[in-house]
Amino acid sequence: MGIGEGLEKDGTSLSQIPTYVTAVPNGTEKGLYMAVDLGGTNFRVCSIQLNGDTTFNLTFSKVAIPKELMVAKTAQELFAFLAKQIELFLQTHHEEHFEKHVRRRLTQSASDGFKDEHVFRLGFTFSFPVQQIGINKGNLIRWTKGFDIPDAIGKDVCALLQDEIDKLHLPVKVAALVNDTVGTLMARSYSSPGKTGAVLGAIFGTGTNGAYVEKLANVKKPLSGEYDKSTGEMVINTEWGSFDNQLNVLPNTTWDIALDKQSVNPGIQMYEKRVSGMFLGEILRLVIIDLLKNKDVSFFRDDNSSSNDWKSTTNIAPASGIYAQWGLDTSIMSVAAADNTPELSTLRQSLESDLHVYSPAIDDAQAFKAISAAIVRRSARLSAVAIAAIVLQTGKLTDPESAGEPIDIGVDGSLVEHYPYFRDMIYEALRIVDGIGEEGAKRIRIGIAKDGSGVGAALIALVAAGMEKSKSTADVLGELRSASHAEHLKTVPEKTGDN
Ligand code: BGC
Repeated sequence: MGIGEGLEKDGTSLSQIPTYVTAVPNGTEKGLYMAVDLGGTNFRVCSIQLNGDTTFNLTFSKVAIPKELMVAKTAQELFAFLAKQIELFLQTHHEEHFEKHVRRRLTQSASDGFKDEHVFRLGFTFSFPVQQIGINKGNLIRWTKGFDIPDAIGKDVCALLQDEIDKLHLPVKVAALVNDTVGTLMARSYSSPGKTGAVLGAIFGTGTNGAYVEKLANVKKPLSGEYDKSTGEMVINTEWGSFDNQLNVLPNTTWDIALDKQSVNPGIQMYEKRVSGMFLGEILRLVIIDLLKNKDVSFFRDDNSSSNDWKSTTNIAPASGIYAQWGLDTSIMSVAAADNTPELSTLRQSLESDLHVYSPAIDDAQAFKAISAAIVRRSARLSAVAIAAIVLQTGKLTDPESAGEPIDIGVDGSLVEHYPYFRDMIYEALRIVDGIGEEGAKRIRIGIAKDGSGVGAALIALVAAGMEKSKSTADVLGELRSASHAEHLKTVPEKTGDN
C-alpha cells in the first residue's frame, strides 16, 4: 500500500510522517496532565491522572465544534475558540489550581509571568496531517474531514494554540503535539501492557488513520528533528486516509464519485471517503436520492395506504436531511444494524424522528438496512486491508522472536465503538487476506483504546516534560519503568497537580 515509498520520500499519497516518538509506555507512568483533542466533530478538554498501575482517572468536557469555525476565514478564530474552552475547563474542574496560578502570575515579576513548574503541561491531540518538526512543533499539511481554513496551512498549530492561550493568560504550556492515532497507540500500550506493547493505533471514527511502530532502519527519508536512536524504532503516522488517491485499487461507484466531487477536498483522502463515519451516511444519502429519482423503484413511496403495512402513506418532509448534503448522520446506520426486530420498529422510529420520513413501510426499512449494511461492510473490509498491511509490515507474524505472542492493536472512534459487529467484520476480512489467514487473524488482538487520544496526549506530554530536562523519550520512559521509579519521578518537572 505504498508503505515503503512513504518511508523513503515526502509528498507520496501515504505520507508516513515520522512522529519522533521512539518508545511506547508500559503502564507505570504517573502524573497529572492536561490534554485537548481537536478531532473531526468535537473538541475535548481533559485532565488525566496517570496512576502508574495501568489505570488512570480522566475528567473531561466536550463541545461540538461550530460548523462555521471549521471553515473560518482565519486560523485565529478557531484557535481562540479552543483556548476559551481550555479556560472554561480550568475554571470548572481545576478552580483551585486555576486561581492559584492566576494569582501567582499576577504577583510574579519574571518576564514570562510565572515559573515554569507552575504550568499545566498540555498534550495537544490534533487529528489532521501535520509535518512534525519536534515534540511540540508541527506544520499543518492539509485539512480533512470537512475543515477548510486555508490560512492555517503550513503554520505551526502548537504556536497557533499557545498564542491564544497566552492572550487569556492561562497557566498552560502546549508541551506535546500528537496525532490521535499516536495517542491511541500510546494509550493502548499504557493500559494493556504486554511483552512488546501495541504495534498499531488506529482510528475508525469521523476520519480514519493509523500509526504504528516502525524500525528506524526502514525510515529512509531524512529526519530533521531531535530524536533518540537507542530504541531502534519510531512511531510513524501513516495518514492512510489518503491511501490510493490515484484510485488504482480502491472501489469507485457513482456515489463515491459524486461524494468526492461535492467535498471540500476533491481527489484526496480517497480511502477515508470510503471508510470513515463522516462519509458513510453521505454515501447512503446519495444512493437514496438515486432511488427516489428512479420511477421504476418504489422506495419511501406508496401507491396508496394499502401498500404500506402501517396502512398509511409514506412521505418525506421537504426539510428532511435526505435532501441536504451531509444531512444523513451515519449514526442511523448503527441503529439500522442493531435493529433485528421483526418489524424494524426501532429503525422506523429513527427514520421518522431523525430523517423525517413519515410512516416508512417495512420493505422501505428493510431496503434502507440492507443498503446501509453493504456500505459499512465495504468500509470494514477496507479497514481490514490497512490493518493487514501494517501487521505484515511489522513482520511479527513470521518473526520467531514474537512467535505465539498476540499482535496488539488499539482502536478508537465512533464507527468501531458504536457500529455493531464492525470489529467482527474486520476479522472476517483479515482471515482471507494473503499472508494473514485464519492463524494470523487469531493472533491479531484488536481492542478498544477508549479515550486513547486524551491519555496518549498526556503520556506524550509526560515524555516532553522529561525532554525539557534534555532527556530522550527512552530515558524518560525507561526511568519511569525502573524500580526506583518514585525517586526518578522527582526529576520529571511536570506534577502540576501536586503544586
Ligand atoms: C486525519 C488524521 C486523523 C484521522 C482520524 C484524518 O482525516 O487526516 O490525521 O488521524 O482523520 O481522526
